[in-house]
Amino acid sequence: MSVLSRLLNRPPPARGLVIEPMRRRDLTAIQVIERQVYPQPWSLNVFANEIEMARQGQRYYVCAHRAGQLVGYAGMMIVADEGHITNIAADPNRQREGIGRRLLADLAWEARRCRCTGLTLEVRLSNVAAQGLYHQFGFEPAGIRQRYYENVEDAIVMWCHDIGGAEYARRLTQLSPQSPQSPLRPVHR
Ligand SMILES: CC(C)(COP(=O)(O)OP(=O)(O)OC[C@H]1O[C@@H](n2cnc3c(N)ncnc32)[C@H](O)[C@@H]1OP(=O)(O)O)[C@@H](O)C(=O)NCCC(=O)NCCS
Repeated sequence: MSVLSRLLNRPPPARGLVIEPMRRRDLTAIQVIERQVYPQPWSLNVFANEIEMARQGQRYYVCAHRAGQLVGYAGMMIVADEGHITNIAADPNRQREGIGRRLLADLAWEARRCRCTGLTLEVRLSNVAAQGLYHQFGFEPAGIRQRYYENVEDAIVMWCHDIGGAEYARRLTQLSPQSPQSPLRPVHR
């Protein structure tokens, strides 16, 4: 984090990121990241199905590109007024550069747009990095799913409530000023 960001108590913006809907042509690059970051990566077919569900309005999946290269992706399932984060990952060579934060902010803005009131997800007990990210967005532990991963590791169920109001919009704007929905987004002419 830069000295200025620290002084302003604000995370540094992830520069040069373009967030776009996930497409089938992204899947090869996604698979490369997916295999590096998860012990049980999703197959190409799972992603293809999720993209199809997104086309039908039941999912929302996006990719982050920088300089034309895919550097992260994330998605969520929307059920009634809840957004369930299903996947979020950043290229292991590009982690801690604000990509996860930008992606999660995009999902949260979309969940608001769909009139969701809360967001939920599961995260490995050992996944301190992801928990740190979720904590920034106001997620709190709400329970444990025992041996949820590979029938071995527990999952923490996390919830973030009341995402629909002005206070949460301010939080998102502060976390990710570059998001298109943010009133702080710089306008490039
Ligand atoms: C979780 C993940 C998506 C975060 O993406 P990222 O782009 O590296 O995260 P960011 O740079 O946006 O960091 C946002 C915040 O997350 C937390 N964080 C990220 N990496 C961290 C780490 N290695 N250790 C501790 N906290 C970490 C910090 O709070 C960070 O804020 P800060 O940099 O201002 O301190 C990334 O680590 C990843 O792809 N992990 C593998 C896949 C995964 O586990 N996905 C989650 C499944 S539940």
